[in-house]
Amino acid sequence: MAEADMAHVLVFPIPAQGHLNSFLHFSTGLLRAGLHVTFLHTDHNLRRLGAAAREAAAATPRLRFLSVPDGLPDDDPRAVDGLPRLMQALSTTGAAAYRDLLASLRRRGAAADDGFKPVTCVVADGVMPFAWDIAEELGVPAIAYRTVSACSVLAYLSVPRLVELGELPFPDGGGDLDEPVRGVPGMESFLRRRDLPIQCRSLTDTYQDPLLKAVVAATVDSRRARALMLNTTASLEGPSLAHLAEEMRDVFAVGPLHAISPAPAVATSLWRHDDGCMAWLDGQAERSVVYISLGSLTVISHEQFTEFLHGLVAAGYPFLWVLRPDMLGASQDAALQEAIAAVGEGRALVVPWAPQRDVLRHHAVGCFLTHSGWNSTIEGVVEGVPMVCWPFFADQQINSRLVGAVWGNGLDMKDVCERDMVEGTVREAMESDEVRKLARTLAEQVERDIADGGSSAMEFKRLVGFIRELSS
Ligand code: UDX
Repeated sequence: MAEADMAHVLVFPIPAQGHLNSFLHFSTGLLRAGLHVTFLHTDHNLRRLGAAAREAAAATPRLRFLSVPDGLPDDDPRAVDGLPRLMQALSTTGAAAYRDLLASLRRRGAAADDGFKPVTCVVADGVMPFAWDIAEELGVPAIAYRTVSACSVLAYLSVPRLVELGELPFPDGGGDLDEPVRGVPGMESFLRRRDLPIQCRSLTDTYQDPLLKAVVAATVDSRRARALMLNTTASLEGPSLAHLAEEMRDVFAVGPLHAISPAPAVATSLWRHDDGCMAWLDGQAERSVVYISLGSLTVISHEQFTEFLHGLVAAGYPFLWVLRPDMLGASQDAALQEAIAAVGEGRALVVPWAPQRDVLRHHAVGCFLTHSGWNSTIEGVVEGVPMVCWPFFADQQINSRLVGAVWGNGLDMKDVCERDMVEGTVREAMESDEVRKLARTLAEQVERDIADGGSSAMEFKRLVGFIRELSS
């Protein structure tokens, strides 16, 4: 226990919902193991979380929330098309504030009146290499935590090799997106051009897209961190984990963390849940409802919305649809009216934000139409819910391929957003015994991984031991 008291981890996610959730579950696991945790938000998000969340954190033993500026003006919408700008601001203004803060937290003596001893280890988002470089400069060992799949990390890591091999940019300017990709180890049997991050499609003579470039660089730089931690399991992604282990100083596969630490210490939701949807689900028949959610960043056009809506109506099942207030831009209100008029009273519910994990666990939910964000993917896997995938960007293209072609627990719409496709894939996901069976088998497999003695449970223990050793 003396060792546990020493270990004080500063966790630092990028300020996006999926990353916050993932880091929160990780922090909850650390708190349970007896460690102290400083959760570093951005000033903007800490304000947005609201007083209740801040007070809950303040009242949680051995946890505290602190913040640094993200470097953007207050009125910046922090939307998905501004991600490169956010990453840039974080790595300059944010990094400078983080350096000062960490230096002061490192110096703090045992006499600190809030019970927090000096920070002994940093676990930083795997897309922010500055965070581990600065920590190491200040004498604090640092681990990189990538909140995405092992397969997508391996694909990003392989981008320079794909360029060397002439597989990127796509030789025929994109040409046939169904062409196989050979240069990502272990994925030769299923990876196609269309499964690589979507930015790869618009590359010309080099991989110049700013977001892709930043993520590839961060992935390569993860080799410098003491270890790479991933929210996945050996049974879901064993081959990719084995390849990554050859490249990194150490690799920990400790997921799905939301299932290992199901009751998070505090809330980190940037939107208010609409709890009314749970009562609505209570009134629906077993496995009758389609749940649609495209995560916290996806934006869609009015045309895409209309295709989804017509496809869903034609499929004929009741549905629960999360339409975030910033998802459709100016046409949001018109879209809502359209949805309500098309469906009729009681057959569907549209909400701005839902308690997703509770929704997926609900007996009325029959399938999950998702953008294939990694958190949503593993949440669906854990609950054994068949998925229909319509990936938007970044790692999501690979995740949907895993679901559709490797695990078989769902169907991949990928680049098609047409009403017939929506109707057909939703029907199949709702009705196919085979997909349901594979989804159930996968869920059982992951349940074994996180149970006592399972691979992820053992890896989490090994990680806590590793952090304690780094902290001593
Ligand atoms: C982003 C990327 O898109 C994703 O691919 C990457 O893996 C992590 O960062 P996001 O797009 O938000 O995340 O998707 P996802 O990873 O699925 O995270 C969304 C989170 O919000 C999930 O934990 C989900 O449970 C939660 N959520 C979503 C809600 O709680 N309510 C909702 O209504 C919708």
